[in-house]
Order: sequence, then structure tokens, then C-alpha cells
Amino acid sequence: MPTGRVFNTAQMAARARKRLPRAIFDFIEGGAGSEIAVARNRARFEQIALMPQALRDCSAAHSEVTIFGRRYAAPFGIAPMGFADLVCPGTDRALAQAARAANVPYTLSTAATTSIETIAPIAQDNLWFQLYPGSDEAIAAGLMQRALAAGVTTLLVTIDIPVPARRVRDLTNGLAIPLRPSLRTVLDVARHPAWLLRAARGDRPGMANFVDGKGSLSGLAHAEFVSRQLSFPGLDWRRIEAIRKAWPYHLVIKGILNPQDAVMAERIGADGLVVSNHGGRQLDAAPSSIEVLPAIREACGDRLKLILDSGVRTGDDIARSLASGADFVLLGRPFLFAVAALGLAHGPAAIIDMLRAEFLNTLIHLGCADPAELGSDHLWPGRHLSLRQGSNR
Ligand SMILES: Cc1cc2nc3c(=O)[nH]c(=O)nc-3n(C[C@H](O)[C@H](O)[C@H](O)COP(=O)(O)O)c2cc1C
Repeated sequence: MPTGRVFNTAQMAARARKRLPRAIFDFIEGGAGSEIAVARNRARFEQIALMPQALRDCSAAHSEVTIFGRRYAAPFGIAPMGFADLVCPGTDRALAQAARAANVPYTLSTAATTSIETIAPIAQDNLWFQLYPGSDEAIAAGLMQRALAAGVTTLLVTIDIPVPARRVRDLTNGLAIPLRPSLRTVLDVARHPAWLLRAARGDRPGMANFVDGKGSLSGLAHAEFVSRQLSFPGLDWRRIEAIRKAWPYHLVIKGILNPQDAVMAERIGADGLVVSNHGGRQLDAAPSSIEVLPAIREACGDRLKLILDSGVRTGDDIARSLASGADFVLLGRPFLFAVAALGLAHGPAAIIDMLRAEFLNTLIHLGCADPAELGSDHLWPGRHLSLRQGSNR
């Protein structure tokens, strides 16, 4: 797999920074407010040390896990991301294709630039769908029907954007609503002719899942749609319970940080949670997901599958998450930066390969042959390290 001499997600992000117009890079990388939550996400991961364990036969070690009745090649997947085709037309499709080929899940966003019907035959049964319930129940029901018809069995319902975030980078660049690109933004786009050329050749990125009869909503119309429909402060547990009743397969609530919310999700019959602060893009003062994860695991025991996202960047982070109580993780930004850094043809497969290899390397250092063996024994400091006397595995 050609990696273009980039060997980790940090190097991919650095290359993406050069290749993308500043406003697009900022839209992806940026967070809410002063971006304290973004920094905290990384800092809290880096504080967790993993205790290696030597001389345990790991010659048959593998990275496979089972979640929601399906075996995947590794315990990570692609998080839902709206407007991904801003990186390059075809980004959603390339990510879905690579996820299918590598056998990891790809989550299509409600706000994706490619429709459910286009992505379904590409991702096949590696497709998960993310729903913003929004203010309009009929729109949500229609999206769920389409996801079902496309063969989706895992639905992620995002509940952590009751109001739109204040993202200072987007405001500064004029990428907020109403759309008023600053002069600096316009000049900077002109300095990225390769990006401009690719963008000009493709369709204008719009919210392809919302077709109004005249084609998908585009430009300002969909930006306004996002702010009106997707961030809905009136949402409550009754709506989520109704969605639970209507969705016949695996239902996952995305954007949980509070253990009390985790207990509520369990009560209404959710199958899993995404413990997430939306990558630091919503509440800047929020805790990081990795620091609240143990409390959430304690609150809901083994009854719910816990998926973690926000700040996962390495195989070590995947192992840190599983050792802290997660069953699975999602990554967002690194996948978009991989496309920007290495292109549609190589970027998505290269990052999946790289993360899987990193994770397997970590797993073996920890003396585990199976991701299911990861647990609090591997955290240092934190919980005690049991000696597992007399046990060879
Ligand atoms: C550009 C971008 C768009 C996103 N769009 C959505 C979305 O449409 N729906 C959603 O639930 N989360 C969305 N997210 C959040 C991601 O699903 C995920 O929670 C977050 O990116 C994880 O953090 P990470 O980027 O640090 O890995 C988006 C994130 C980014 C970076």
C-alpha cells in the first residue's frame, strides 16, 4: 500500500494542511469556542500509559472483533461526517469503498454529500447510518425508511447538537451562516489550484440525502437547513424512544458523555452508545470521552455496547479505549485528512491499514492475542495490575 512517505495520522494531517484551502482545513480540524475540548481529547489519551506484558505467545494475534452481530477486521470504523466531499468530490464513496474492502464499518451521515442509495451498494453490509432526528419527525422517518430499504441494520442517532456550535475558525473564515467567505478565504482558495480544479470538475457538494424535487439542497439552502432542522433544542427522550420503537435493528445513541444519559439510553432499549464530545466541535467545556468512559461503563455494565470517539489518532489510542471499557472506536478527521494527503485512490485504504497495523503492534506488546483480552489490567496508572498467577493466557 503506497503511503507517500507518511507514517502516522499526524503526518497525514500535516500534509492535508498544505493541500487544502485554509477554510476547508479549518472546517475539518476546528472545534467549538477556544478549542479546549479538542486539546483535552488528545491530552487525556496521552496521559494514559499502557502496561506491557512479556513472554505470552502472541504468534496468532489478530485484530478482529464482533459487534452488533457482525465480525469486523479491527475494532474501529469511520465516524459520520457531513460535507466530506469538500475535501474532494468522491470522498464519501472512496471511504465507503475502502471500508468495505478492509471490512470495517463506514457510517454515512444524514448531512453527507452522497445519498444513502448511492453509498449502499458500495459499502454493502459495512454500512452504518447516522440520523439527526431534527425538528421534523416526518423527515427523520423518511430517512429511516430509506436506510432500511438500503439494507442498513445499525443506526446511530446523534443527540449532541441541541444548538449549532460556535466555531470561531468558521466564523473568521466566513464559513458560518450566512455564508460570507472573507477576502482572505477567497485568495487562499485561489492559491490551491489542484483542489480548485478537482472541486470544479465534481458536483457542488450538497446535502444529497435531502432532495426537494428540484435536486439536492445546495449552498446556502442546505447551510440554513442544517441550522434550522438538525440542531433542534426541542428534542427529548420521547422522540428517541419513538425512534427506538420504529427501528427494528441495532440502535446506537451518539453523543453521550453523562452517565445518567447512558442509563436513560439503556432504559429506552438502545443497543449501544457512542461516547463522544463530537470531536470537541460542540461544547468546548465538555469532558473528553476517554475520561468519562469508565463511569459510563460502570453505570450501564455490560448491557450496552460502548463505542468511543473524539481524539482517537493511533493504535495505542484504540487499545487505550478498549482497555478503558470501550468495545469499539470511531475516528473522524483522520479519514478526511488521509484523503487530502494521499488522494482518493490510496488515502482511505492506507489509513485503515496503518491503524490496524499500529493496533496489532500495541496488542502484542500488551501480551494479548485477541482484542477481547484488553481490560483495566493493561492501564497504568489507574487500576491495579493483576498478576494472573499460573495463567498462560
Ligand atoms: C467535518 C466533520 C463533520 C462531521 N459531521 C458529523 C455529522 O454529520 N454527524 C455526526 O453525528 N457527527 C459528525 N461529526 C463528528 C464525528 O462523527 C465524530 O464524532 C468526531 O469527528 C470524532 O472526533 P475525531 O474527529 O477527533 O476523531 C463530524 C466531524 C467532522 C470533523
